[in-house]
Amino acid sequence: MQTYNKNNPSSIQALFNSIAKQYDKTNAVLSFQMHKKWNKALIQQVLIPSKPKVLLDLCCGTGAIAFEYLQQAQHAVRAHLLDFSEGMLAHAKERSKAYWIDRHSIDYLQADAQCIPLPDHSVDCATIAYGIRNVKHPQQCIHDVFRVLKPGGTFGILELTQPEQPLLRFGHHIYLRTVLPIMGKFLTSNREAYQYLCNSINTFIPPQELKRQLQEASFQAIQHIPLLGGIATLLIAKKTHQ
Ligand SMILES: C[S@@+](CC[C@H](N)C(=O)[O-])C[C@H]1O[C@@H](n2cnc3c(N)ncnc32)[C@H](O)[C@@H]1O
Repeated sequence: MQTYNKNNPSSIQALFNSIAKQYDKTNAVLSFQMHKKWNKALIQQVLIPSKPKVLLDLCCGTGAIAFEYLQQAQHAVRAHLLDFSEGMLAHAKERSKAYWIDRHSIDYLQADAQCIPLPDHSVDCATIAYGIRNVKHPQQCIHDVFRVLKPGGTFGILELTQPEQPLLRFGHHIYLRTVLPIMGKFLTSNREAYQYLCNSINTFIPPQELKRQLQEASFQAIQHIPLLGGIATLLIAKKTHQ
């Protein structure tokens, strides 16, 4: 039986390679399509106001965030889509054909989000959706995003989190412990993968700690926006200086 552990990044890479084919469909079923609303919040509150000419989408998976934005952008964008899973990137390339985004220049980077293969001060806006909780050292990723952002640049983090309200937190816990792994197994025949994904939500640092790490990395004007009672959280941070 495969065990997945973020302290062993190659196991996480293997996990996403194994579920890449079914990822979009499974995501839609398991989130009851809520992820679309949360993605929209990230796009509308981070990408649309930033109007980036150079965009970096970390842990891009099958490209949902970047492609949705690129389809709406009025100006030409250079988009870097970064993920360490070859399988997810292959699906992103395939999925890109469904969008009207030919006017943009897109490159796919198979790399670790903790060591971004881009020069300092080269990106206007960076996003990471449902990715940072899988990264071994989130703080290293945050520091590297600060390095690649231009002064004035924006960083948006969207992540699944635990609600604070006790009753909602209890219901959420039950859903993660029981419903999600069983449905995950039914939809992908990989129960362990969905067990890991549930545990990764339960054990990830709370948004307040993520905010503290952003401050520690010199990000400013940090906004903390709970979505659906805190089942997901959007953090928006600015790099105001070098
Ligand atoms: C839950 S998926 C999210 C995908 C996408 N952002 C979305 O909105 O659907 C997490 C993604 O993060 C990638 N990932 C996890 N850890 C990573 C790391 N250290 N470096 C790069 N990619 C990573 C996985 O391969 C996977 O594609």
